Amino acid sequence: MKRIGLLTSGGDAPGMNAAIRAVVRSGIYFNMEVFGIERGYAGLIEDVVMPMEMRSVSNIVQFGGTKLRTARCLEMLTKEGQKQAVATLEKYGIEGLVVIGGDGSFRGARALTEEFGVPTIGIPGTIDNDLEYTDYTLGFDTAVNTCLDIINKLRDTMTSHERVCVVEVMGRHCGDIALYSGIASGAEIIVVPEIKFNMDEIVARIDRSRANGKHSNIIVVAEGVMSAEQFSKKLQEVTSYSIRPTCIGHVQRGGSPSMADRMLAAQFGNKAVRLLNEGIGNRVVGIRDNKIIDMDIIEAVSMKKKFNYELYETLQMISM
Ligand code: F6P
Repeated sequence: MKRIGLLTSGGDAPGMNAAIRAVVRSGIYFNMEVFGIERGYAGLIEDVVMPMEMRSVSNIVQFGGTKLRTARCLEMLTKEGQKQAVATLEKYGIEGLVVIGGDGSFRGARALTEEFGVPTIGIPGTIDNDLEYTDYTLGFDTAVNTCLDIINKLRDTMTSHERVCVVEVMGRHCGDIALYSGIASGAEIIVVPEIKFNMDEIVARIDRSRANGKHSNIIVVAEGVMSAEQFSKKLQEVTSYSIRPTCIGHVQRGGSPSMADRMLAAQFGNKAVRLLNEGIGNRVVGIRDNKIIDMDIIEAVSMKKKFNYELYETLQMISM
């Protein structure tokens, strides 16, 4: 393969720039020409394509966001949009495509592969960690660390005022950001879409912790359940504790990527290009049991994300 394309799609995630760098540099290593496509599939449909050189990706490894910018592209769900995307690839003689994005982006890649025979490799770039085939997605670690920093600060003020803080984190339909940031911050309670919550049990847990000498409580609520505002209102209906809601919001999507995310980016990007160089397409890359893996894209997108109940129980046992 002599010419490959690269795009970032869907919600951005810290580490996308580091992955772009890894793809471009690995492509150059294999004497490929690498083309960057701006604004995800929208740029592919609208022909916003530029050659990437060694120096186009200098000094970006440390930054959040994506140098190629990104978009959620509904047109890519249509046959017409897909045909247009393929026409752009043909115009530039691009033989293989690397797509950095989440579930939705992989569905676009799957269409290019299945319907049009374009070899594509997916790199899981989303803070949500909602893809079953990989233990971690790019950006998740940094997003959780951002949540931890904020929850630490919230704990300070909640303790001074003996309050309960309801903290809303992202994750769409997946509770992983809540689960990991809850355990790692010492939150007493997490509320996730995968487990039905019981408000009486939550109140009992707060009461118990107060009786045991705690002066504050943190409840991490995944956005897939409800907002911090809504949850606080419901909780206030059944308790007299002083409650404050906080929504962490899009700050989770930005910032300098952590070491873990930069390492994933380097390895995912490199693996994607190694596969294309061997003429292999229609795969996604990931990490399992600390090993970089690749898997059939169709199989990967059809897998249903499983929730880690053991980690949930761990939180129940140690945070009180
Ligand atoms: O998929 C990443 C994510 O940040 C989700 O956690 C969140 O629900 C969504 O994107 C927010 O999307 P937008 O940036 O379009 O508001």
